[in-house]
Amino acid sequence: MTDFTFRRSDFPDGFLFAAATSAYQIEGHAYGGAGRTHWDTFAATPGKVEGGENGDIACDHYHRWPEDLDLMRDLGLDAYRFSTSWARVMPDGVNVNAEGIDFYDRLIDGMLERGLKPMATLYHWELPDTLAHLGGWTVRDIPERFADFAAMIGDRLGDRLFSVAPINEPWCVAWLSHYMGVHAPGLTDLGAAVRAMHHVGLAHGLAIQALRGAGATNLGAVCNMEYAIPASDSPEDRAAAQRYDGIYNRWFAGAMMQGSYPVDILEGFQAYLPNDWQGDMKIVSQDIDWFGINYYTCQRIAAGTGDWPNMDLVQGPPPRTDMGWEICPEGFDWLLRRTVADYTGDTPLFITENGMANRDTATRADVERIAYLDAHVAVARDLTADGLPLKGYTFWSLLDNYEWALGYDKRFGLVHVDFATQARTPKASYHALARALAG
Ligand code: FCB
Repeated sequence: MTDFTFRRSDFPDGFLFAAATSAYQIEGHAYGGAGRTHWDTFAATPGKVEGGENGDIACDHYHRWPEDLDLMRDLGLDAYRFSTSWARVMPDGVNVNAEGIDFYDRLIDGMLERGLKPMATLYHWELPDTLAHLGGWTVRDIPERFADFAAMIGDRLGDRLFSVAPINEPWCVAWLSHYMGVHAPGLTDLGAAVRAMHHVGLAHGLAIQALRGAGATNLGAVCNMEYAIPASDSPEDRAAAQRYDGIYNRWFAGAMMQGSYPVDILEGFQAYLPNDWQGDMKIVSQDIDWFGINYYTCQRIAAGTGDWPNMDLVQGPPPRTDMGWEICPEGFDWLLRRTVADYTGDTPLFITENGMANRDTATRADVERIAYLDAHVAVARDLTADGLPLKGYTFWSLLDNYEWALGYDKRFGLVHVDFATQARTPKASYHALARALAG
């Protein structure tokens, strides 16, 4: 496929097309006086990250941001979803680094000069190391400190931000990182994971209050969702898929939108939640102006043999992306409909990430990415036509970048990055998208 089948004109006026990145994945964390983070520690721990790679240099966006913003303007995008690194702005998690805040100040002005709406995410995973040493997301102190960081960003940058979300993908921050051990801090501890599942939601709510207090507007949430498919028709596999859906999708949507946790998951989590968790739910469920969904794939689930939540992940059939992720636009359709029906109602919805990893080179046409994005954007187009309050679509990612535990090997960009020279080369998908957005 060399061209998209959709055109901008298929969407209502004002529908926003955007690209996303995150700070640690592109900026070059070694520059500008940023503090050490738990991702630096994780990457330096043997066996945790492919090749021990880290975000020290990444895409050198810290110096090359004008060129990167030009790429988005020339693509015809309306908005840019970026993140502010807590450790760049507050190297020890508490005290302000003027150079760090100045960087985002210039970056935001650069977006506005190019007609790009700044969509900020305050936390996209690189926790200041000093806070990680205090216990990170497993302790209640961190949400409180996060609210101070949010207030500072709201105060200094809030007047120029189009939208703000406190935390990218709470499920990854809590479950993937504390139960599955795949991301920093790499724990495999149910109790720690459950506490993090609560504290991340609390941090979201406290940050929304702090941002509002500082005058920032258009505040939302960004949750990732995966469509859970039972590996077989057996009642055990069906129940395991329900648990997967509960932990992955229903936990945070229920908490943030309705102030309650799903009963079937509480059954397994209750023993580990902090004593006063019920008193926090009003804070977790602050009114928000929009809800964002990141979607990539579905997951096949079988009942496991271990302790609760005993579920095994089973590899799905092809076609799969270079991440090994099954390509499943049907799951996208199902999850969006379910989210609106059960949780978000009339609240404006944004797709805040969608994209694929592909074995791209600077010269070969990334036809697979065009087909992947086309199938998913078509779902959004049809749901918008059906009346779902979908207001924007964000592509992950502008640039090939640091794909966390998988290092620099997985390429998600619309723009190819040669990590030896930092040369940026727009891919075929970039050019095809420019044509679609012009029409
Ligand atoms: C999402 C993350 C993003 C990137 C993509 C592939 O879960 O938000 O940083 O890693 O997956």
